[in-house]
Amino acid sequence: MEYIDEITSLKNQVSFRGTLEVPEGIENVVIAGMGGSGIAGKIFQELYTKKPVSLVTSYDIPEFIGQKTLFVAISYSGNTEETIQAVNKAKKRGAQIRAISSGGKLAELVENTVIVPKGFQPRSAVGYLSVPLLRGFGLLDDKDVELTKNLLSDLDTHQTRFEEFGNDIFQNKSIPVIFGTPGLNAIAYRWKTQFNENAKVLAYSTSFPELNHNDTMALENTYRKDEFYFFVLTSRTPEKEISNRIRITSELCNIEMHKVEGEGNTVFANTFTLIHKGDYISYFLAKKRGVDPRDVAIIENLKRELAVS
Ligand code: PA5
Repeated sequence: MEYIDEITSLKNQVSFRGTLEVPEGIENVVIAGMGGSGIAGKIFQELYTKKPVSLVTSYDIPEFIGQKTLFVAISYSGNTEETIQAVNKAKKRGAQIRAISSGGKLAELVENTVIVPKGFQPRSAVGYLSVPLLRGFGLLDDKDVELTKNLLSDLDTHQTRFEEFGNDIFQNKSIPVIFGTPGLNAIAYRWKTQFNENAKVLAYSTSFPELNHNDTMALENTYRKDEFYFFVLTSRTPEKEISNRIRITSELCNIEMHKVEGEGNTVFANTFTLIHKGDYISYFLAKKRGVDPRDVAIIENLKRELAVS
């Protein structure tokens, strides 16, 4: 599959029927996952606020994990060392374990695994990896899926703006800096990681309003200021407080922020249309740079070397 086909498959991924089985009586949720798989946990953490949700992005697990914990391991390949070790530790604590994966060791280790289609780069399977969680916790209904599917299809036929962003970043050899806003922090981070993995450029993400308490001091006077390319991600109708912050920050720090909005009037539609826009921009930047967006050879070599060390 060409990488562009992986990107355009997002509209089909959002109608994936896989659903995580959520047991009764859990007190907290812990999601383990790295890189392109881990992002599904970050998205969920931002959208689900009824119970405490913690993320595990290393080998160790928090002390509070026990029998009332729903522990969800997400690994597209099913073979990521950190995630597998975390599952083994959570098992010893008696946590209720679930997994989302295309197979590998994880699917062997966890009986209750939602199996997603093979053949994608993990980061391109973001729909397959997120939807089972959102469905399992009742955060997604068919109407929402239909709306989002249509919006994503529409974006697939209007890619010019994303290509222009990619070209601009390429022309100026800029470093993308992505500012999230409430509810979209995980997506700002997703953009950063897509710039890293697809386009092979360093990028940085942070979020309003927190950035107004630290980054703001650097924005006006930082070294090589003209080498940064600032994005701000918002919903169609951001809270007034946030719009004001964006405007005032831009004026006080004398920076131009390229505003990119989510589409649709639901959280899911907003989230996934913004994911899609970032995927396209990083893809077009990769094309301009002449690098293969699929290539993650260094990550794979690192995993191989760690496995034998
Ligand atoms: O997108 C990628 O290729 C990486 O970020 C992987 O997701 C990451 O290395 C973890 O692997 P996996 O998703 O298979 O657990």
